[in-house]
Amino acid sequence: MIGKICGTGSYVPEKTVSNDDLAKIVDTSDEWIRERTGVARRHIAEQDTVVSMGAKAAEKALENAGISPEEVDLILVGTSTSNVIFPSAACSIQKEIGAVHAAGLDVSAACTGFLSVYQIGQAYIQSGMAKTVLLIGAECLSRLVNWKDRGTCILFGDGAGAAVLQADETASCLQTVLHSDGAKGWTLTCDSRHKEGDKDLSQDPSTYIQMDGREVFKFALTKVPEAVREVLEKAEISADDISWFLLHQANIRIIEGVAKRLRIGMERFPSNMEEYGNTSAASIPILLDEMNRSGKLERGQKLVMSGFGAGLTWGACVFEW
Ligand code: COA
Repeated sequence: MIGKICGTGSYVPEKTVSNDDLAKIVDTSDEWIRERTGVARRHIAEQDTVVSMGAKAAEKALENAGISPEEVDLILVGTSTSNVIFPSAACSIQKEIGAVHAAGLDVSAACTGFLSVYQIGQAYIQSGMAKTVLLIGAECLSRLVNWKDRGTCILFGDGAGAAVLQADETASCLQTVLHSDGAKGWTLTCDSRHKEGDKDLSQDPSTYIQMDGREVFKFALTKVPEAVREVLEKAEISADDISWFLLHQANIRIIEGVAKRLRIGMERFPSNMEEYGNTSAASIPILLDEMNRSGKLERGQKLVMSGFGAGLTWGACVFEW
């Protein structure tokens, strides 16, 4: 038995910051940001946290699935940006939504977070350890961005997406691959702000997201097409049979490069980073929810999801909607 996604939800904070707004605080322009990244604006949390955003997305996903919170066996949250170390975001979300019978745990895999929780959720269902799993990707990257660094602050945004995965006898297609390369971890880092107690670390650049943009770009263009080919081969499915390729929404040029390397038209690679920027573990489930609610997904279609990010981590999965 494997799991089928039977409902999705998403939530982003109301406040938006446009490229022109950023051009007032760092030396950049709307034209440069759009051309190099495809991002026009991002939603930024004011009162919201990973927990509040994750809970709102989760409630919408449960409503969309027609499943009550009490039926959830397991809550898995992909996040790297919760404002508390413990209790986990999953346990706090459990409390918020009243999923009283669920176990909860967080998974730290940066922008590969949602793909990772999807794979773990499927493993729990396949092994019979869970029947209904709530998958959440929730991030508050604005907390960890250095708003004086034009190389990173233009890229990221806040938000959350969720999906309900339920054991389903009719679900037939599933293959997954997941990889890490810790030796390349230096290319995208963020130290813990708590390591030196309550000392003011606001001037220490290592406490913000630091990135070698070109290295990360090269990594994504190499590893994402490899992972997609690998998972399709494992599933014995041709790329022609895939309706949609849902990639982590980091940068439109990365998506274009991946599509080109796979020789697949961009019309099968939906994107929404223009509105949200890179929301890390939240980007794939937000996109999935938008596709679901706008009626673009039809039952029986085969979908590929692929995530990549800090760690380094990357992977892909193929499944039937
Ligand atoms: N506005 C204007 N100029 C900027 C800028 C900004 N926001 N950020 C950098 N620049 C400048 C650089 O200082 C550099 O100037 P120089 O030539 O005078 O030294 C020039 O633009 C080119 O910089 P470079 O870093 O080579 O640009 P790039 O084409 O690689 O684009 C990124 C930078 C960050 C957009 C790109 O590398 C990228 O998207 N990488 C992947 C990042 C990512 O997706 N990370 C998350 C993965 S999960």
